[in-house]
Amino acid sequence: MERFSIKGGKKLKGDVVIKSAKNSVLPIMAACIMTNETVVLKNCPKISDVFSMSEIIKDLGGKVFFDGDNIVINCADVNPVSIDASLTKKMRSSVFILGPVLSRFKRAIISYPGGCEIGARPIDLHIGGLIQMGVKVIDDENEIRCDASGLKSGTINLRFPSVGATENLIMAATLSKGETTILNAAAEPEIVDLQNFINTLGGNVKGAGSTKIVIKGVDTLSGSEYTPVCDRIVAGTFAEAVCMCGGKVFLKNADKKQMGSVIRLLEGCGADFIWHNNGFEVIMSDIIRPCGFLKTSPYPGFPTDMQSQTVALLSIAAGDSVIEETIFENRFRYVPRLNKMGAKIICKENEAFITGVNTLHGAEVDATDLRGGAALLSAALCAEGESTLFGIHYIDRGYEKAEEAYRALGAEVKRLSD
Ligand code: UD1
Repeated sequence: MERFSIKGGKKLKGDVVIKSAKNSVLPIMAACIMTNETVVLKNCPKISDVFSMSEIIKDLGGKVFFDGDNIVINCADVNPVSIDASLTKKMRSSVFILGPVLSRFKRAIISYPGGCEIGARPIDLHIGGLIQMGVKVIDDENEIRCDASGLKSGTINLRFPSVGATENLIMAATLSKGETTILNAAAEPEIVDLQNFINTLGGNVKGAGSTKIVIKGVDTLSGSEYTPVCDRIVAGTFAEAVCMCGGKVFLKNADKKQMGSVIRLLEGCGADFIWHNNGFEVIMSDIIRPCGFLKTSPYPGFPTDMQSQTVALLSIAAGDSVIEETIFENRFRYVPRLNKMGAKIICKENEAFITGVNTLHGAEVDATDLRGGAALLSAALCAEGESTLFGIHYIDRGYEKAEEAYRALGAEVKRLSD
C-alpha cells in the first residue's frame, strides 16, 4: 500500500513552482468539449483528478494527452453517449461534463457523480439551474437524462453561490440561443478563469468575479492556447507548511491577489512575505500566533479548501483558536489523526476548538480526503520523530508529487509502495 514515510523537524528552504489550479483546469478541460478545434492548456499539474477528467473526455470520444506540462485536447469526435458510470463515480468534478455536452449536443446522460468524503455534495443547484434554462431533466436513481432542445434565455437565481453549479451553467449557456443571467453566482478566481478561457475561444461571458454573470450564446467556439490561473490552494498549503516548519520558500507563480484572506491570516500568525512579480517568498522565524476566530466562506472569504491545513497550523500556535466550517458538513475527519500526533483539538458540530501545543510528534496516520491529507503531511513534516502517512492517493488528487516538492525544500519524505 502506498504511503509516505516522513522524518519531521526540518526547516523548509528553496523554491516551489506552483502550477495551474486543479479547480480551473478541470472545468476548462470539460469546456473543451464545446469546440471542434484543438486547445492547448499550459502549465497543468499531473495529478490524478486531471487524469480522471482526461479518461472521461476520452471515453466520450475526445483526444487528450500531456505534452510536457501542457495538456492537448481535441473534442472534434466527441459523441454524447452516456459517460461510463465507473468514471463519474471516481470524481465529483465529472458533473462538469453535463453543461458543455448539453451546450454542444443539446442532450446528455450522466450517472450521479461520486459521493464525497467531505459531505453529501448534492447537485440540485446544477439541475435546478438547467431546468430554469428550459432543459428537460429526467432524474432516476442512477442517471440524469437531459434534453436541452428547448434551451432558452432567462435568469437563474442560485440559492447558494455554488462554484460547480455556476461553472456548469455558464458552460450550458455558452452555445445556446439568447442571453442567460446567473444571479448569486460564485465569484471564485477559477470562475473568472473559465470565463476568460471561453471568451478566448470566441464565447461571450461577462461579469464573472461578481455575483451576476451574463452569457450571450454564440454559434461556435474555436481552438486556443491558454494558461489557467495558478493554484492558490496549493500555494497556500506550501505557505502554511513553511509557517509550521520554519524557513524561507519562494512560491513561483503564486498570485497574492487571489490569496488575500490566507495571506492576512498568515501575517497575523507571524509570517513575513517578500513580493515579486512572478510569485512571493514566505518567511517564518517566529512563534506562531493563534488566530482567535476564523470561519470559511465563499470567495473572497477564507477558503474551505484551506481549512484543514490551517487547523494543523494553529494546532502548534502559542494560544487558542476556533475555526468554523460553513461550506461542507463533514470536513473535520482528519482531526482525530492530528490529535494522535499530539494536537489538542475538540470538534463540536461545525467548529474546531484548538488549544495550541508546543510540538507535534510522529505517528502512523491515514488521510481521509485531499486537503485533510495535505494537513497531515504538513503536520508530519514539522513533528518530532517519524510518521507514516497512508491514504496518499487522496493527496495525489490535488498535489503533483508532493514528496518530491517537499524533498526539494529540504524535508525528509519518501513514497513507499511495498
Ligand atoms: C468546488 C471546488 C472545491 C471547493 C468548493 C467550495 C472544484 C473542482 N471543486 O467544489 O475544491 O471546496 O468548490 O469552494 O472546483 N451544494 C448543494 N447543491 C449543489 C451544489 C452544491 O447543496 O447542487 C452545496 C455543497 O454540498 C456544499 C456547498 O454547496 O455544501 C458548496 O459546494 P460547491 O460550491 O458547489 O462546491 P463544488 O463545486 O463541489
